[in-house]
Amino acid sequence: MIQHNATLVLGAGQLGMAVLRNLAPRVAKGRLSVLLRASTIASTDPDKQRDLAELRALGVGLVEGDLAQQSPEALAATFRRHDTVVSCTGFVGGPGVQRKIARAALDSGVKRYVPWQFGVDYDVIGRGSPQDLFDEQLDVRDLLRAQRATEWIIISTGMFTSFLFDPAFGVIDLAANTVHALGSLDNAVTLTTAEDIGALTAEILCAQPRIANQVVHVAGDTVTYREVADALDRLLDRNVTRRELPVPELMRALAAEPGDAMRKYRAVFAQGRGVAWDKARTFNAARGIAVCSVEQWLREHRDDIRSARS
Ligand SMILES: NC(=O)c1ccc[n+]([C@@H]2O[C@H](COP(=O)([O-])OP(=O)(O)OC[C@H]3O[C@@H](n4cnc5c(N)ncnc54)[C@H](OP(=O)(O)O)[C@@H]3O)[C@@H](O)[C@H]2O)c1
Repeated sequence: MIQHNATLVLGAGQLGMAVLRNLAPRVAKGRLSVLLRASTIASTDPDKQRDLAELRALGVGLVEGDLAQQSPEALAATFRRHDTVVSCTGFVGGPGVQRKIARAALDSGVKRYVPWQFGVDYDVIGRGSPQDLFDEQLDVRDLLRAQRATEWIIISTGMFTSFLFDPAFGVIDLAANTVHALGSLDNAVTLTTAEDIGALTAEILCAQPRIANQVVHVAGDTVTYREVADALDRLLDRNVTRRELPVPELMRALAAEPGDAMRKYRAVFAQGRGVAWDKARTFNAARGIAVCSVEQWLREHRDDIRSARS
């Protein structure tokens, strides 16, 4: 239980909702809030209204703010009223916003900041990768590591499991019955579901002794593209086509459309650095916390997958 800490979560999308659902029972009443844009709070969209109703039922306070539009000073003034800030917004607002949010968190003097770094291992990937936004993630790490006043935790989760199967990513093409392996069939990728990231984030924030100033790795599963194709074969009872997309081919595709975010992601994952780690050496394995494997995720989504193929 986080007793006296006021905790502010930034964003209530797929990840923010999962984090809030898991934090709500563990944070003292009236001490958990979420920052959302005024337009989101006033939205008439039924999905948004459903989420807002769920948040109110959980006792989560709604705080108005706009991470893209507001100045660092204005954001710091909002953050200052809390002890822990957890950013769940993704690459909201484009270049520069991750640095701005981190700067605001440090200037506000919050006790603890968890940046939006729920993804790959940026330290291992390093600067100058095909995904230029990753350099900004390293700038944020530099800012956090250069100070001692605010504790920080970075939670490395790998890719969201659902993202691997998102047709827009272009890896699993169920309509064409094909797996496009990034780099090679033997390249691996670490995957964690948003629900597990929510549960593990709450566990990490409440851990005793306190976890601070470190990168924590978690993993739902670490699998090669060949293993993903094999799992699809077992699940669908047929052979999916396996096609390797070598790094040079993906780099040429990126050069043809340098602003295309998915081409950047495909190229960086194909390089195979910092995108996969041993599940046995993770926070969840060390604590014996059950997580969703790729096989389990596929079984749970079998019907969606079948309909996507037809
Ligand atoms: N690591 C991975 O593999 C992986 C996989 C999938 C997604 N992602 C990325 O992860 C991020 C988070 O995932 P998600 O599914 O939770 O994203 P999401 O559903 O788009 O949620 C983003 C949240 O931030 C809010 N937001 C957007 N602009 C804002 C602003 N200017 N000020 C304040 N709040 C703002 C959104 O509000 P509204 O709903 O009102 O817009 C929403 O609550 C996304 O950027 C996504 O691209 C990463």
